[in-house]
Amino acid sequence: MRSSPSSPRQHWVYGYGSLIWRADFPYHERCRAVVRGWSRRFWQGSHDHRGTPEAPGRVATLTPRPGEACVGVAYRVDETVFVHLDHREKNGYERFDVAICLADGRSVQGATYVAPAHNAAYLGPASLDDIAAQIMRSKGPSGANVDYLLELASALARLDTEDDHVRALAARVKSPSRAALD
Ligand code: SIN
Repeated sequence: MRSSPSSPRQHWVYGYGSLIWRADFPYHERCRAVVRGWSRRFWQGSHDHRGTPEAPGRVATLTPRPGEACVGVAYRVDETVFVHLDHREKNGYERFDVAICLADGRSVQGATYVAPAHNAAYLGPASLDDIAAQIMRSKGPSGANVDYLLELASALARLDTEDDHVRALAARVKSPSRAALD
């Protein structure tokens, strides 16, 4: 992306989890955005934010799903912001290059943080009931795991989108006994 000789290069970064609702970094632009071929899942263990090494929480990652798409937010940032983001997302996430479709019709290339299955903190699939139970009992330096899930569910509602996986988990933590009906 073009920038003046004296200013840092700019890049797009796509967020699908806490990066949607907790933008603790400067940005030039923020847009609703979609990446195709990926789905959001609570399959990554969190030792450093929403759990501890002894009792990890569960946070979102992306998993490849041909034919599916994930709605989130893209930010246009100075490349210096990656120093902060690489530190924030250090517990198993790696930067992937993705094609991002912005809500205004632009298509851009950018980075997203994915926690792949080979990382040490990865937990992988489990039943919705087990994932919800782990989220309900976990907390870490950034707060309760359940707050992460519910903040994400609210942020997705503000983006006017629904994610079946997030919706089913949010239903379970809000009303564990009713979740069986979901
Ligand atoms: C993201 O939000 O895009 C990455 C995962 C997270 O920090 O929750």
